[in-house]
Amino acid sequence: MIRLHELDFKPFIAEADLARAVAEMAARISRDYEGLNPLLVPILNGSFMFAADLVRLITIPCEISFIKVASYEFAESKGQVEEILGLPAEVAGRHILLLEDIVDTGLTMQEVVRSIRELQPASIHIATLLLKPDSLKTEVPIRYEGFRIGPEFVVGYGMDYDGQGRNLPCIHVLDAR
Ligand code: IMP
Repeated sequence: MIRLHELDFKPFIAEADLARAVAEMAARISRDYEGLNPLLVPILNGSFMFAADLVRLITIPCEISFIKVASYEFAESKGQVEEILGLPAEVAGRHILLLEDIVDTGLTMQEVVRSIRELQPASIHIATLLLKPDSLKTEVPIRYEGFRIGPEFVVGYGMDYDGQGRNLPCIHVLDAR
């Protein structure tokens, strides 16, 4: 059990399980994008650890360019992305794979996908470590998902609660007791 600010979190997804899911995803991506020189686009801040582990296991030539979107507020999505920073210039005609830590309502991703589509990529898909299917409010092109979880709030492996918990090597879930 760990305490972040005033809340308790308990272990939820172990390091070994994360590593296995990330390795499987990297193998699939390496197969599916063979010969396509994909442009991998991790979304900061939450995806930095997932992205760093995933790209190390990708065995085909690829490029990596980070973007950043408006921050998330605890317990509910803002449902609105104010700005997308760092969109790479060379998107046209490229195969784009967005890397995300968690898709909750999907509204952040919807906005990112919309912005990138305007730049006319050859294709655009999403690889997310976690998906909260019951919270999804919109259709987004998720091609790879590591784990499906319930609506619970999680931290660790890049994800935070009010700035804390990103450094935890495994995923913890809010202890509702
Ligand atoms: P969405 O727009 O509702 O899909 O929210 C996506 C973003 O909200 C993610 O990139 C996370 O930064 C954040 N988020 C959603 N659920 C959680 C959670 O359980 N823990 C930490 N961050 C979360």
